[in-house]
This record gives sequence, C-alpha cells and structure tokens, in this order.
Amino acid sequence: MIHYKSKAEIEMMRKSGKIVAGTIRRCHEAIVPGKTTTRILDELAGRLIAEAGAVPSFLNYRGYTANTCISVNDVVIHGMPNDVPIEDGDIVDIDIGACLDGWHADSAVTYAVGTVSANAQRLLNITRECLYQGIAQAKIGNRIGDIASAVQRYAEKNGYGVVRDLVGHGIGRKLHEEPVNVPNFGKAGKGEVLKEGMTICIEPMINEGTFKIVTLPDGWTMKTADGKLSAHFEHTIAITKDGPDILTVE
Ligand code: MF3
Ligand code: CO
Repeated sequence: MIHYKSKAEIEMMRKSGKIVAGTIRRCHEAIVPGKTTTRILDELAGRLIAEAGAVPSFLNYRGYTANTCISVNDVVIHGMPNDVPIEDGDIVDIDIGACLDGWHADSAVTYAVGTVSANAQRLLNITRECLYQGIAQAKIGNRIGDIASAVQRYAEKNGYGVVRDLVGHGIGRKLHEEPVNVPNFGKAGKGEVLKEGMTICIEPMINEGTFKIVTLPDGWTMKTADGKLSAHFEHTIAITKDGPDILTVE
C-alpha cells in the first residue's frame, strides 16, 4: 500500500533531507586527491549524521555494513568503503541516506575530482540532467512511466546506457517502500498514477557504454560490464499541488 504523506510528514522528511544533503556536501569538501579513501568519507558521514541526531539509513539495511555507498569511476552503485585513495581525475558517486525521527531521505551526487576527462564531465552533466528531466515529470496526474521514459529518452538521445537492474523507489518510514519500482526506462503513460503526498526517490544510473552491470563477490559493489564510466544522481521528491518538491537540499 502506498503511504501518502501529510504536509507535516513531508516537513519531517525535509529535515532528514537537509541532513543528507549537508552530509554529501561535506564529504565532497573533505576529498583530498591522492589521500582520502572512501572509508574515511564513510566514517565522516557516520559522524555527521549522528551529530545531527539521525541514523544512517543504509547501515544494516539487508545486511549492508557501511553508512554510505561511494562508487568510483566504473562502479555503478553500492560501492563499499575501501582503503584506495580517491585520485585526481576520478568521478565519485556519494550516495547517502539518513533517518531522523523515523523518516528517511536518500540522495546521491556524482562529483568530478580535480580535472576529469571531457567524456567524464559530459557523463556527469547528462546524468544530472536526466534526474531533472525525471523530476519535471513528478507531478499529480502523471504516471511513474512518464518519469521513466523522460530519463531514458534523455540518456539514450545522448548515446548512453540506462541501467536496468536497479531502480528508484518510494521512501518514507522505510528506505524502500511502495511504489517499490521507479525505473529509469519505460513507457510514458504507464504505471502507477502520481498523487499528492507520494514521496519517491528518482535515481538515474547512466553508463558511458553498455547498460549491463556485474556484481562483485562482496555481493554489493556493482560495476559496468565493459569497464566504462558510470554516474548516478538521486533526490527524494514529494509530489505536491505546487509540483515536484525536492526534499534533499540544504
Ligand atoms: N540509494 C540506494 C538505494 O536507494 C542505496 C541503497 S544502499 C543499501 O537503493 F545498502 F541500503 F542497500
Ligand atoms: Co535510493
């Protein structure tokens, strides 16, 4: 059953969203190329979320053992913290969820570290725009398929692959709730009708090459099958009378 949130509940989620956005920003600011590892960022995120009185949404979720998912270069999503320094020229997806007073918010930003290739920068720009193309469709009376097809159209028009195996999701008292699938590919006019008070995460994962991905033996980390780059942007959105309301901003 979809839980349609009241205005007061949306404001609770906005508080969580501010914590998430601030934590992502501060993790980005903390990156020193050649030195900072994703484990250091994961610890920083855990500290910042705790200081804000919240708990990391990902920790212990289906057995996940870290606060964050940080995915570098050809890692598509669910990168687990490790001891490899982030380098100049890398692209780094910082994906964080936080739960304050029982309400979750979830967001991801892929950053360019130092000077990246023109190809990498283009992938980041287009993937961010895919997210905003999807968000623009998140209005009352539209359907999930309108979001999905807008993201897919923009990515494919630009020659990129849209990851199929992972999708966006409803969010609220649970990190993942109904509607459980908010895909980044599909047909306009299909799927669940969007109604006032729905809260969803839209999260395009866009690959430079093939959309195919592989899972590493840790059971979490997912990489592109062809070793090319991948980017990921995500916001938590409320469907409101005034249009899409982005909750994961500071
Ligand atoms: N943003 C991702 C998602 O919503 C991250 C989840 S990681 C997990 O699915 F560890 F919590 F699964
Ligand atoms: Co998510």
